[in-house]
Amino acid sequence: MKNTTSYTSEALFIEGGRALKGRVRVSGSKNASLPILMASLLSKETSAIENVPELLDTATAFELLRSLGAVLEFEKGRVLVDASSVNNHRAPDEVVRRMRASVLVMGPLLARFGRATVSMPGGCSIGVRSIDQHLKVFEKGGASIEVKHGYINLEVERIRPVEYTFEVITVTGTENALMFLSGCEKRSILRNIALEPEVMDLVEVLRKMGVEVEIEDRTALIRGIAETKGFFHRVIPDRIEAGTLMVAGFLTGGDVLLEDVRVEHMGSVIEKLKEAGAEVDILSLGSLRVKGGGVVKPLSISTAEYPGFPTDMQAQFMVLCSLADGISEIRENIFENRFQHVAELQRMGADIHVRDRVALVRGVDRLYGAEVYSTDLRASAGLVLAGLVAKGRTVVKDIHHLDRGYEKLEEKLRALGATIERLPPKDA
Ligand code: EPZ
Repeated sequence: MKNTTSYTSEALFIEGGRALKGRVRVSGSKNASLPILMASLLSKETSAIENVPELLDTATAFELLRSLGAVLEFEKGRVLVDASSVNNHRAPDEVVRRMRASVLVMGPLLARFGRATVSMPGGCSIGVRSIDQHLKVFEKGGASIEVKHGYINLEVERIRPVEYTFEVITVTGTENALMFLSGCEKRSILRNIALEPEVMDLVEVLRKMGVEVEIEDRTALIRGIAETKGFFHRVIPDRIEAGTLMVAGFLTGGDVLLEDVRVEHMGSVIEKLKEAGAEVDILSLGSLRVKGGGVVKPLSISTAEYPGFPTDMQAQFMVLCSLADGISEIRENIFENRFQHVAELQRMGADIHVRDRVALVRGVDRLYGAEVYSTDLRASAGLVLAGLVAKGRTVVKDIHHLDRGYEKLEEKLRALGATIERLPPKDA
């Protein structure tokens, strides 16, 4: 009889205290790959996408596309998608629960087939994460929306041109709207759009498909076409993985060279790292070097939409602030519950006090290894960083969260000198 505390997922074992040294290649962006994979649904022609990371989330996206009837091949980061025979327009609850970015099928399915049925994404551990803005754009474009038995049923005869100002800056909301309006041959205007590099990478793809997209500040003009073309595209590097590796190099007092980054996407993170005392050398637009070893200075961080400081780097910088020489303030403005990593870091000796959306972090001399639990993707990355610098041994559990968004992270860290290995699932 399996007892109730058996771990359903693997864990990472880390022995802290090793300085990371060497060079590492950053993988393709998860948050650019997902919308671009869904965009392939727009066309009857085959599309080829390169630099797609091998993750739980991209595997889920392949599974979802196949369940809709697309034919996919994936090998060494390259995906070939033939969506010509898509004949199903339903994203089931089991898939949406696993990956809420599954909602990104709504835009392309409505644009090409005029219908989509998607399980209403539940909340997740970092917040409610509603999709009201996505639905408002569809409604403005003439779609009928009915929510029944936990599913959103959308239908549209002919997409009408839309003029809409997002009430909230939303990354996937902007992406869904852009793909939806690719199916309208008249010109639409979207205001207050998200400008994340991942959104801009999708815009590049839509342009390759024949969609007209002009962007000025936070306003986009879109004019779709009747038959979108297949595309070839190489996905941008993952700026959050890059930022995570930079914090690791700095905190361990190491010297790490990152290759295949997009320095222009990393402004706010590089500035904050330098403020904390890191030595960051931009070697080219595609590579940079980060060194640590000195005192970690306290920071004041306030997460914001791009180009502001990314919420997806908040947990990683909280670990950095936990070891700073002074008191730091971290304000999480994007999600209402993205401090799940605090309790786990406190178990490692961090001195953090949270009130509402602000965490006050009083730096301590060192963190101590412990058994800690991942709660969400970026929290688990933060716990790995903490394990790398803590005194003694750390076991980070439930790392399926980590595997959703980091490609071979422990192999990359081990190659840089970390003592880290994956422990198999075990019955306690
Ligand atoms: C994207 O999520 C990313 N995911 C997230 O990365 C990232 O944290 C987030 O953007 C913010 O940058 C992908 O791109 C797949 P939002 P998304 O819509 O699009 C509210 C990771 O770690 N909102 O920009 O879901 C919402 O509740 C993941 O890789 C509405 O109120 O985020 C949130 O508070 C985690 N109504 C805020 O806006 C809506 O219709 C920003 O959400 C949509 C959003």
